[in-house]
Amino acid sequence: MTQALAPRLRQKLLRAARAAMKNAYAPASHFKVGAALLTGRGAVFSGCNVENASYGLTNCAERTAIFSAIAHSGPRLKIRAIAIVNNQNKPCSPCGACRQVIFEFSPDAIVLFKTAKDWEERAIADLLPEGFRFR
Ligand code: THU
Repeated sequence: MTQALAPRLRQKLLRAARAAMKNAYAPASHFKVGAALLTGRGAVFSGCNVENASYGLTNCAERTAIFSAIAHSGPRLKIRAIAIVNNQNKPCSPCGACRQVIFEFSPDAIVLFKTAKDWEERAIADLLPEGFRFR
């Protein structure tokens, strides 16, 4: 397991992600997800998944956290790291849509997630090769 995040920051993000996970609205899947991100300025923002009876409208925890960060602190968001947890302790890396949204704001963000074996820290550019950006 590679680890670039300081243990204290890692714990802070995991704790915030778990707290947000408890607020998840997941009546369809019962798979509750929480995410917490660390900004370039050291602030932490979190989010949970929000499902809908029209399934395609579901918003993942990662995007909820990112949109909340922007709503609270503006569009110049830098994501240093984002951690993802779930209520079933299952492997859970960000979906393709969330990878693209993370990449939009920080092509060098670190993503902390659970794999089948362990917790893993990976650069978003590894998870989304050739991600699209305007800049
Ligand atoms: N989900 C997330 O919130 N983040 C992920 O990284 C994977 C999937 C949510 C979407 C849906 O509400 C539920 O998990 C099952 O797919």
